[in-house]
Amino acid sequence: MDHTLIPLPKEEILSDKTVYYIEGDGIGPEVWRAARPVLDAAVAKAYGNDNKLQWVELLAGEKGYAETGEHLPKATMEALAGAELAMKGPLNTPVGEGFRSLNVTLRQVFDLYACIRPIKYFKGIESPVKRPDLVDMTVFRENTEDVYAGIEYQSGSPEAKKLIEFLVDEMGANIHETAGVGIKPITPAGSKRLVKKAIDFAIEHSKPSVTLVHKGNIMKTTEGGFRAWGYELAEEEYKGQVVREGEGEDGVIIKDRIADAMFQNVLMYPEQYSVIATTNLNGDYLSDALAAQVGGLGLAPGVNMGDNLAFFEPTHGTAPTIAGKDMANPGSLILSGAMMLEHIGWHEAAALIHAAVETALAEKKVTVDLAAQISGATQVGCQEFGERVLNNL
Ligand code: NAI
Repeated sequence: MDHTLIPLPKEEILSDKTVYYIEGDGIGPEVWRAARPVLDAAVAKAYGNDNKLQWVELLAGEKGYAETGEHLPKATMEALAGAELAMKGPLNTPVGEGFRSLNVTLRQVFDLYACIRPIKYFKGIESPVKRPDLVDMTVFRENTEDVYAGIEYQSGSPEAKKLIEFLVDEMGANIHETAGVGIKPITPAGSKRLVKKAIDFAIEHSKPSVTLVHKGNIMKTTEGGFRAWGYELAEEEYKGQVVREGEGEDGVIIKDRIADAMFQNVLMYPEQYSVIATTNLNGDYLSDALAAQVGGLGLAPGVNMGDNLAFFEPTHGTAPTIAGKDMANPGSLILSGAMMLEHIGWHEAAALIHAAVETALAEKKVTVDLAAQISGATQVGCQEFGERVLNNL
């Protein structure tokens, strides 16, 4: 599987790499215990002593709070400010007034504006669709704007009333006074930098197309803006390298689809889609739906990336009901690590991991979540599944 994001110059490939890591809450510690030996062993197998991952732990979440009194300690934030590579386990969002999600805080503070998720089928997993093997897509989801920007006012609050009054009185809008209100900001700059990452990726990896997914037929100024700015960027910066759908075949095809049609299309014609660039909310829905299409929500890797820092993480949460029971699937963290290895140009090590995971799945001795999806499978624990992948390297 080709998960490279931005290739580094050759001279930077043979070296040690510092990876800052956060263990995470819930199943975090156990999936790390299973995953990290796999990553180190794959690097050792591929490069002997030439390349090594230098792991530096950073405290965060419950462990951070227990040791420093802060969920995101100052030392962690300082280290990440100068970091290029980081990996994290899932972090709990404690329920309570005023507690911001740690994940959202990290994304905002380090401006990790692109959430990138490759979605490809692993043989042996039972999928709800007929041809999951045709799914080979990489979703680039904008991570900082849209209705996720956090500008929301509760129904009946003084803020909501004030805003509604302004919209009704000054702007002639028709909104009921009891409405809860959220704001959906989408900017040209925010859209263009995301689409740029997607087009760069497509060119770098000879992908056939980039599809802009939007709901611009209804939300013209925001989602429609995203579409228009995406095409604008393609025309301004990629002349000769990209071509609009229907206008030729020389270069990466740029096309767009309305989000609801896209959900149909990825089910019916997955072979027509490769790289997808989309707004925050659409991307949230679409990446989970696609992962389910290949039957592999438990195996889906991901990265949140800005211009400086790439923060790799599994896409699942802390799974509190199975935490500490040696039941979690470490696959998503292992594959996020493989994605990081591709990102730094260590393709051989990443390929070893993909092959080893595939073999482990074929052996049908898998964690509880996958056992439910593979007929004739036997359930094994988190640690044993990790060891199986390790032994298959
Ligand atoms: P979740 O992903 O933790 O769990 C959803 C379901 O999937 C549960 O049935 C769980 O047991 C199962 N599951 C998740 N990961 C698994 C794995 N590796 N192996 C086997 N089964 C697995 O999502 P949920 O319950 O919505 O969230 C729990 C907590 O995690 C919340 O505090 C939430 O804020 C946090 N969270 C953190 C994320 C992150 O750090 N990036 C992402 C999603 C949720």
